Amino acid sequence: MEITQALFLFMLSSSVYSFHANSRSAPRVHLSYKELMETRTARPFSFSFNTSDYRILHMDQDQGRLYVGSREYLVALDMHNINKEPLIIHWPATTQRKGECRMTGKGGQGECANFVRLIEPWNRTHLYTCGTGAYKPMCTFINRGWRNTSIINRGWRAEEYVFRLVPGYADSGKGKCPYDPRQENAAALIGGNLYAGVHVDFMGTDPAIFRTLGDRPAVRTEQYDSRWLNEPVFVKIQKIPDSSEKNDDKLYFFFREKSLDATGGGSPSVLARVGRVCLNDDGGQRSLVNKWTTFLKARLVCSVIGTDGVETYFDELKDVFIQATQDERNPVVYAVFSTAGSVFKGSAVCMYHMSDIRKVFNGPFSHKHGHNYQWTPYTGKIPYPRPGTCPGGTFTPSLRSTKEFSDEAVNFVRAHPLMYHPVYPINKRPLVVRTGVDYRFTSIVLDLVDAVDGRYEVLFLGTDPVLCPPDLSSVCSLYLQTPVPVKTLKISSKRQQLYVSSERGLTQVSLHRCGIYGKACSDCCLARDPYCAWDGETCVAFSPSTKRRSRRQDIKHGDPLRQCRGFNAKGRLSETVQFGVEGSSTFLECQPRSPQATVKWLYQKPDGRRKVVRQDREVLKTGQGILLKLLIHDDAGLYHCLATENNFKHTVARVALHILDREIVEALTSPDGLPEDQNPYRHHQLHPHHHPPPPPPPPQALPSQFSSQPEIRLINQYCQSYWQQLKPDMSTKRTSRRHANVQPEASSGTPIIS
Ligand SMILES: *[C@@H]1O[C@H](CO)[C@@H](O)[C@H](O)[C@H]1NC(C)=O
Ligand SMILES: *[C@@H]1O[C@H](CO)[C@@H](O)[C@H](O)[C@H]1NC(C)=O
Ligand SMILES: *[C@@H]1O[C@H](CO)[C@@H](O)[C@H](O)[C@H]1NC(C)=O
Repeated sequence: MEITQALFLFMLSSSVYSFHANSRSAPRVHLSYKELMETRTARPFSFSFNTSDYRILHMDQDQGRLYVGSREYLVALDMHNINKEPLIIHWPATTQRKGECRMTGKGGQGECANFVRLIEPWNRTHLYTCGTGAYKPMCTFINRGWRNTSIINRGWRAEEYVFRLVPGYADSGKGKCPYDPRQENAAALIGGNLYAGVHVDFMGTDPAIFRTLGDRPAVRTEQYDSRWLNEPVFVKIQKIPDSSEKNDDKLYFFFREKSLDATGGGSPSVLARVGRVCLNDDGGQRSLVNKWTTFLKARLVCSVIGTDGVETYFDELKDVFIQATQDERNPVVYAVFSTAGSVFKGSAVCMYHMSDIRKVFNGPFSHKHGHNYQWTPYTGKIPYPRPGTCPGGTFTPSLRSTKEFSDEAVNFVRAHPLMYHPVYPINKRPLVVRTGVDYRFTSIVLDLVDAVDGRYEVLFLGTDPVLCPPDLSSVCSLYLQTPVPVKTLKISSKRQQLYVSSERGLTQVSLHRCGIYGKACSDCCLARDPYCAWDGETCVAFSPSTKRRSRRQDIKHGDPLRQCRGFNAKGRLSETVQFGVEGSSTFLECQPRSPQATVKWLYQKPDGRRKVVRQDREVLKTGQGILLKLLIHDDAGLYHCLATENNFKHTVARVALHILDREIVEALTSPDGLPEDQNPYRHHQLHPHHHPPPPPPPPQALPSQFSSQPEIRLINQYCQSYWQQLKPDMSTKRTSRRHANVQPEASSGTPIIS
């Protein structure tokens, strides 16, 4: 199936919805957190109990449940609505254990608690879970699922969702879950065996890829050998078959680690890695006993080459999303990286083919050699079976176990776990790069969306905290409540929901936000959101299965002229009326929904002639509209704000500007009873061009006998709306008045009467 290489990004916690397709980096739609809440496209988990460190550890599509671990709690959530009857288990470390933990000097940052770090499906009725247990990892079973309750109520048989710990059962969590909650882990339960990338000891200095729990012997990586693992941070573990032969099945793990060559020179301090072992590896017979004999790793490269030819590497692997394809041996690997240094802040998304990863594992081994002690490709004889080959597989049908491997083969693996070539991404460059911004990507999920004109990849990226700068050119859109990094992201294409967790909370976000784009067909079309289509009336969620002939969608071109013929005439834009006072300034607002639109203002004189309003000494163009600095009577007229996007022009705002005679305004607004020379506004008359006009007095102060004159009617309208605007806080009259005097921009608060 061909996937269109147009790319959609939704960044969470801080950011954008942007297109890659036509290499425009500005996001098209800005959505504030408020908007998301108001349109009910984002729903935070609203149950509060004394916890933190939320992680979505398992998603069960069949049962429609999300399983969340946090500090001392386990939570089962309904995927349709995370606030619908959540089931919560309190699973603390014992008071005694917490006491012992503090005795050892730990717990300065509250680590002497049970941080839940693993929830994996065990069988149809049970889950396996582990937590840090106040520096003494512990595991147990959870009984879960729909049950018929024994209580028969008026002949009804009730079904309820069960979620409870198996009483009296407790397992050691050593080799399954870290001791220190600040250390990341990754795990997968496969065929009853738990494979975990984890720090195994109390001190947190012994990292390993560990197999425990099942019927196979416990096996781990070589201990304290920096050639194997050097201060790794585990990101993801997943089984990926290599061939149709089950014995070839491999476990791939993604992590980052300290570079062995990090000597402060030009070499990077951190490297991204992909590693693998055979699932049926039972360790060596004479050496590498209970250690992997098939462990290999390679560098994952994600870099950009600048115009100056300098290559910038993104080495700090943050998250991996593995997209299944029809061929289970060849999923696509999406990974997010950031730069490792603090000088240059940047993030990137790279995409890898499994075939490229395999090619590297089938290539030369890395070898330290020569007088410089440099890494070179190993050119000597390679033992049989080739290191990394699984016993009983396609090429080794006669070997039953890794215990039958020759000493030579085992010793070779021990000394050469690293492949010489790195793995390059598809097209040798990132899919997405973000530099020069305050945030970094932390997490990724992908959705494949079938639209009318093809299949699209939609990337959702979590970021670390950023405070959105106030200007429109920033990329803030989905600001999810917590100013802390997005920890986990899960997506359900089936339910069209995204689930986001962070240190402090959990949010459910609908993938559809079609109503947000605007009321017109052109808005819907220009949004080019593969989740939305125009159905003849509104912008609605698109699903190919309920295809109707009237549905309009054009992701590739976003061309409303073609897609929306006959739909745009409706709902003519209404005109707003705005007042300005001669000699002062006024602001005409026009904010197209899309920052990709270019804006042009047209001024229409009362005689109908139109001309383009240009930026000059008297006119300041901003992203939100135009500021007319020194109003004269001739400025009165109709102003049209025209937006052009993707060759489609439409009017976004139409403002009728009335200019009020300054003298009349001042006569009407000067405080009564003050002698001329004490009138604070008197001097304005002398230098009318250097001061903004006084604000109007409260409505009741206007002499009603004037209200029949047209000019006065306008002024009346102006004043009334001005005070209406201030009404929520009438007590601040005085300060508002002063404020209006000091700040010319205050006239941007000029009332707009629709
Ligand atoms: C919440 O939990 C923390 C850490 O376990 C504990 O120190 C604190 O006292 C708890 N607060 C309340 C209100 O129970
Ligand atoms: C699932 O595993 C649990 C724990 O080992 C066991 O008690 C239960 O009987 C198993 N259920 C099924 C359906 O196999
Ligand atoms: C509950 O009982 C009904 C009726 O006896 C049965 O059809 C259903 O499969 C039962 N559900 C479960 C989860 O056992």
